Amino acid sequence: MVKSSELSGFYKRSVSDRVKVVKEFMNLTDDDEALLHQTGPLSLDLANRMIENVITILPVPLGIATNFLINGQDRLVPMAIEEPSVIAAASNAARMARSRGGFSTSSTEPIMIGQIQIVDVPDPEAARFELLKQKDALIKHANDQDPVLISLGGGARDLQARVIESASRKMVIAELLVDCRDAMGANAVNTMAEAVAPMIEKITGGKVLLRIISNLAVKRLARAKAVFDKDQLGGDDVVNGILNAYEFAAADPFRCATHNKGIMNGVTAVVLATGNDTRAIEAGAHSYAARSGQYTSLTVWEKNGEGDLVGTLEMPMAVGIVGGATASNPIAKLAVKILGVKTARELGEIICAVGLAQNLAALRALASEGIQRGHMSLHARNIAIGVGATGDLIDKITVEMVKERKIRVDRAKELLEEYSKR
Ligand code: MEV
Repeated sequence: MVKSSELSGFYKRSVSDRVKVVKEFMNLTDDDEALLHQTGPLSLDLANRMIENVITILPVPLGIATNFLINGQDRLVPMAIEEPSVIAAASNAARMARSRGGFSTSSTEPIMIGQIQIVDVPDPEAARFELLKQKDALIKHANDQDPVLISLGGGARDLQARVIESASRKMVIAELLVDCRDAMGANAVNTMAEAVAPMIEKITGGKVLLRIISNLAVKRLARAKAVFDKDQLGGDDVVNGILNAYEFAAADPFRCATHNKGIMNGVTAVVLATGNDTRAIEAGAHSYAARSGQYTSLTVWEKNGEGDLVGTLEMPMAVGIVGGATASNPIAKLAVKILGVKTARELGEIICAVGLAQNLAALRALASEGIQRGHMSLHARNIAIGVGATGDLIDKITVEMVKERKIRVDRAKELLEEYSKR
């Protein structure tokens, strides 16, 4: 039986019921189920080996976005995030995308760029030519550093060189292009960049300074596309409202920062859930958005011949499914299993689809009823918890604040005092 990720009322179920649904969807084991029921699966001992100076663990809720149909395959998507309404919004947009076939995604090969900065080169342009002439030897030396990556079909593929004009001088930048396969790749790339540095100094007659991966991963892109039915969105006015909202973001960096932040709500949540490097992805996304010299929207929204809304998102996607926290954090490992992905590219494409869904949901809300109604009622729960409410009181205070339209800390405190006396 083909299982569907379209799960209406998933949000109304208990936590343990939801775990059961996910278990059945992905044929998880009893051990996986038990892990999901623990609230502290990352032991202090393990955490202490992951980073330095550990004193505790910061738990972040992990939820499941439903309804995602990506390249004809149903997916349940784990998202780790502290902000309410993000998962509900992504699930809602994914539900709307289904009627027009869901998300269609693709990606480039997983190529990362390792930069080597060369200064004090007497003749920078000539040095660039010499680097390009000797690129085969440089690539071979880079590949000698990582036989495992080579055995998996990855490795350095090419070398490019540029002369850039800095504030005080010209410098040559050599760039190794490395196919990282299913790893994020920072370690492999940095090791290769360091290894070829002495050869590069000999070839150019200059001095190598930095040897480091670039997070502007323009050669490792993920793409997602979806069509949204105009009637399902709420009609022509809503479609036009979304297009106006998009044009605002595309033209104005102040709006665009928030627009792209909304995309990253979805992207970062899946990146975090799968133990990937959220900062690398954020850096790549925003620098990609500014690649033309003007910071602009990562997504593009258009109207097709039928008046339906068509959205596309293309962005750098340096994520892995092997190594790093994806390997060491048991929940991240399980998140990858729940997604059912076999390659890093597949994971990146799903993340991109979630980013597109998230942007649609935000723009639709902004272009119609506004973001606050849905958002604030969920936010009210956090305020109630924040002032110290527990158990039933959380719900009571939340309901009252929403009813009164006073979703504020001072009111939550008053209500807590009032209800606690009863
Ligand atoms: C809130 O986390 C994200 C939004 O502000 C995004 C947007 O404005 O497009 C709703």
